Amino acid sequence: MHVLITGGAGYIGRICSELLVSAGVNVIALDNLSEGHRGAVPPQALFYEADFGNPVALDEIFRRHRIDAVIHFAGEALVEKSMKDPSPFYETWAYFPRNSCLTLEPAPSALTMRSR
Ligand SMILES: NC(=O)c1ccc[n+]([C@@H]2O[C@H](COP(=O)([O-])OP(=O)(O)OC[C@H]3O[C@@H](n4cnc5c(N)ncnc54)[C@H](O)[C@@H]3O)[C@@H](O)[C@H]2O)c1
Repeated sequence: MHVLITGGAGYIGRICSELLVSAGVNVIALDNLSEGHRGAVPPQALFYEADFGNPVALDEIFRRHRIDAVIHFAGEALVEKSMKDPSPFYETWAYFPRNSCLTLEPAPSALTMRSR
């Protein structure tokens, strides 16, 4: 099984990646390293430094790997920041995921994901 973890170099993404790797899952981690750290990604995981809002990067990842599931942690996470400027939060938690779903819809792996 192949799982794409967005925000895989962040706090929760790292923990999730480690748990999945220890369970024998093939982890593909994506992170733009705006907050995360490359060294946080487990060595067994594949890492792509890319922005989740970049459809070209996502297309490439889905072309190279048969992704069975996506777990989305890539985004702004600080409440105080969200109160001052909500727009990046809207982008990473609503706009980018919506666009990614539209982008990935024709991919066979995305169709498989939706049918489960
Ligand atoms: N930290 C906690 O205790 C906690 C608890 C419960 C839920 N959560 C939730 O988990 C999610 C992740 O939180 P976190 O604490 O791991 O935050 P984090 O900042 O440590 O991780 C987010 C990661 O996403 C990356 N990122 C941000 N925007 C990106 C983009 N556009 N493209 C690619 N990568 C991008 C950052 O570089 C970072 O590595 C949030 O939804 C948060 O609310 C966190």
